[in-house]
Amino acid sequence: LWTPENIAEDAIARVQAQVGNDQVLLGLSGGVDSSVVAALLHKAIGDQLTCVFVDNGLLRKNEGDQVMAMFAQNMGIKVIRVDAEDEFLNGLAGVSDPEAKRKVIGKTFIDIFDCEATKLATSPEHPVKWLAQGTIYPDVIESAASKTGKAHVIKSHHNVGGLPEHMAMQLVEPLRELFKDEVRKLGVALGLPEDMVYRHPFPGPGLGVRILGEVKKEYADLLREADAIFIEELRRFGWYTKTSQAFVVFLPVKSVGVVGDARRYAWVVSLRAVETIDFMTARWAHLPYDLLEKVSNRIINEISGISRVAYDVSSKPPATIEWE
Ligand code: XMP
Repeated sequence: LWTPENIAEDAIARVQAQVGNDQVLLGLSGGVDSSVVAALLHKAIGDQLTCVFVDNGLLRKNEGDQVMAMFAQNMGIKVIRVDAEDEFLNGLAGVSDPEAKRKVIGKTFIDIFDCEATKLATSPEHPVKWLAQGTIYPDVIESAASKTGKAHVIKSHHNVGGLPEHMAMQLVEPLRELFKDEVRKLGVALGLPEDMVYRHPFPGPGLGVRILGEVKKEYADLLREADAIFIEELRRFGWYTKTSQAFVVFLPVKSVGVVGDARRYAWVVSLRAVETIDFMTARWAHLPYDLLEKVSNRIINEISGISRVAYDVSSKPPATIEWE
């Protein structure tokens, strides 16, 4: 019988049998999948679990603090927070191609992870043996299809690509057989708050692919503020749960505006909101004009570095959900 409680019990027993008394490392992103793995492994093996949370400077507003509050403070899980904004932004300087940006971000994650795994090992002869990942069933299908050449790769997902060989860790993937809605139910059964489990997905490269072209700290800071306003108003108008994914995109283009008596020459952003079941196809969300108006006014009035707000009315296909 499929109930979240049965799945949790079964997964806990399997993990315990698999790793015994060994240490397990988990890359925690704050997304649904890795969060559910963290909660599950914490139940299964307690202090043998260490999570690494990397703040890459490309997260949403207050995200780092929220992840630490939930997992470290509330749940008592061991979480190492690595502040690596400079490392990511330096690596991204001068890089404007979307796939090249994904590669830089993916490699920087792995370097940091490698470094943390080495620090955690009790000695060089006894490296950390287990690496937990929030791989879910659709990821398994997708990567199998791309290996056999059946899927045409449109965007390389930064987290599929593997670790350096010397790390030689074995994988613990307790969600490998589950679909997203099952993972969410499992998360709730494990005690994670619903608003965290039902959050919109956020891509691994984060704001790095929502700032078109070269990524700069100035752009990331503006985008974080604009995105927070959009999401806040979506929730207030009751549209957050009616959309599958919604966010702001930063366009490195300047436009003239007038605020009060003064001319303003500042950046442009676009709002993006879609409805979809499987993220393979998507329809742009027909958000109410009142909501769009409120968001646009707030962004331009509250953020002096932004002078204009557009709304993306492209469906997938032919457009993709993210702009890069
Ligand atoms: P697209 O833009 O391809 O997005 O229509 C489909 C879904 O995938 C997410 N996405 C990514 N997720 N790494 C990720 O982990 C990536 O590089 C990446 N690119 C897109 C996107 O947010 C949407 O949910």
